[in-house]
Amino acid sequence: MRNHIQLLIIASCLTFAGYAQQKTVPDSIKNKMQWFADAKLGIFIHWGIYAVNGIDESWSFYNKKISYPGYMDQLKGFTAAKYDPQAWAGLIKESGARYAVLTTKHHDGVALWNTRQSKLNVVQSTPAKKDLLKPFYDALRKSDIKCGAYFSILDWSNTNYPGFTKDSTRYKIAEQPERWKKYQLFYKAQLQEIMKNYNPDLLWFDGDWEHSAKEWDAAGTKSMLLSYNPKLIVNGRLTGYGDYETPEQNFPVTRPVYSWWELCMTTNNNWGYHPDDTTWKTPFEVISIFADVISNGGNLLLDIGPKEDGTFPQEQVHLLKELGKWNKKHAEAVFGTLGGIPQGHFYGPTTLSKDSTALYLFIPGKSSGPVVIKGLNSKINSVEVVGNGTKLQPKIVGKISWSPVPGLVYIPIPPNVQDEYITILKVQLEKPIKLYRGKGGLGGDLNQ
Ligand code: GLC
Repeated sequence: MRNHIQLLIIASCLTFAGYAQQKTVPDSIKNKMQWFADAKLGIFIHWGIYAVNGIDESWSFYNKKISYPGYMDQLKGFTAAKYDPQAWAGLIKESGARYAVLTTKHHDGVALWNTRQSKLNVVQSTPAKKDLLKPFYDALRKSDIKCGAYFSILDWSNTNYPGFTKDSTRYKIAEQPERWKKYQLFYKAQLQEIMKNYNPDLLWFDGDWEHSAKEWDAAGTKSMLLSYNPKLIVNGRLTGYGDYETPEQNFPVTRPVYSWWELCMTTNNNWGYHPDDTTWKTPFEVISIFADVISNGGNLLLDIGPKEDGTFPQEQVHLLKELGKWNKKHAEAVFGTLGGIPQGHFYGPTTLSKDSTALYLFIPGKSSGPVVIKGLNSKINSVEVVGNGTKLQPKIVGKISWSPVPGLVYIPIPPNVQDEYITILKVQLEKPIKLYRGKGGLGGDLNQ
């Protein structure tokens, strides 16, 4: 009987290399995606003429909160007068982020570089009068931060684009295919300029929902982009031709099945500068969301929205600095890790070292009692507080000598070692982690 139970129990133990890359993905893609998988944190920047009035980016004229000419009047007020790309890169570095994504052109069609395809750009049509992309990407590269270019594939200002405002369209593609062809050439030419001039590491598409993959020629666009940079990573908004998924604002409750995914999220409730929006997330909220994301094998792309002059609201600076302090202290548990163990083993987020011999437990806020791990079927070598070094003594509870079902691991955390936001414990295992996934007890695993 005992042997029989043991066999069943062994069958219900898993060796974890993390969930990452469960699907069979070609090695070339895995290699290309590696920096992204290790990066965990990116900073998203929505900068455009909408910052002049502090209104919704592009959507304000689309939704007719303002007239189109009224919206475009903001061109006159966009100065970039205090734009300091080095300082931007410095702040991003300080946050701990490993990549940044800047809006090269939003749905309003106003390009932040001197595109030859249209006068609607900050060099020719605003007092800023300069290319805003080049100095930023240069500064990022100097700081060893990967460069991402957000690009709206739809352009509500281009007269060859069908869509305009929520209740008006210019034409139907089926009726004027040649006009649509012109639009395709236009947006592809802009993408070519971006690739040639800035050679980004990541292209972050947006606005693909207005047309199908075939209409966009998404396949042709992807291969054109890769011909400039075969290592280019493309987000999931190129109608099925992207490399990773991009849930927006609300993070998934259960773990996404994608090999790579990235939650993009605002710091208040708006992407661009919106002085009337004071719904700032607190550092604890951002850090706990970030922990949940990486525990589930994803990245966080956290958005900030500069003012028209290129300075940031101080709340956003504060958030990035607090996040950065926490990241610095806990770097080994955050960057270059794998998503953690399945829910149910530990009441909180977890990550794993790449070799799966270290399990990191994230404990939000001040914890009054010991934390507990269920079903850990690996020998523990040591437990320590990350960023602090204090060793803690685990206690194994309920281990029955003859049963292979592991006992519960209780770890007390003294108040003086706790972090003000989230404390992390490193549980160093003798070998790559094994988990007991059964139902416990005698024969309880029969219907696994
Ligand atoms: C949405 C919005 C857009 C914003 C983007 C960021 O798609 O259309 O305004 O830039 O989300 O993810």
